[in-house]
Amino acid sequence: MATINLNGRDVAVDLPDDTPLLWALRDGLNMTGTKFGCGIAMCGACTVHVDGQATRSCVTPLSAVKGKKITTVEAVGEAKVGAAVQAAWQKLDVVQCGYCQSGQIMSATALLASNPKPTDADIDAAMSGNVCRCATYVRIRAAIHEAAKSLA
Ligand code: FES
Ligand code: FES
Repeated sequence: MATINLNGRDVAVDLPDDTPLLWALRDGLNMTGTKFGCGIAMCGACTVHVDGQATRSCVTPLSAVKGKKITTVEAVGEAKVGAAVQAAWQKLDVVQCGYCQSGQIMSATALLASNPKPTDADIDAAMSGNVCRCATYVRIRAAIHEAAKSLA
């Protein structure tokens, strides 16, 4: 049994401490916005924020997030930067199949929170671990610039 701070609330999870956060979210708490892609930190589909840092939840055990603040795609839009990113995603119609996009949005939001005016190179570096099989990369980059502009 672990208690985690999830999207601003303390939540009890009845799973062993070594359970990956991804499975605690999806199977333990029925929060399915965070996706499973590879399970080995190679695709970014499972990205959440842990104390504001983009984190691969598939390789992060519950024991590593005790006492930390976890934010998922279900709540990222409650803060200004996340809301701007989601609005830009909609405006530029970024999504194709959508499977990778919650992870993309979490990584983009973490980038803009730490770097409000990223260059193309900054974006490519920050987003390089988020794979999109539909190849929406050009629209993702444009949407990050759009969100940065709207927040300026
Ligand atoms: S599922 Fe975690 S990085 Fe792919
Ligand atoms: S939108 Fe289909 S995998 Fe990215």
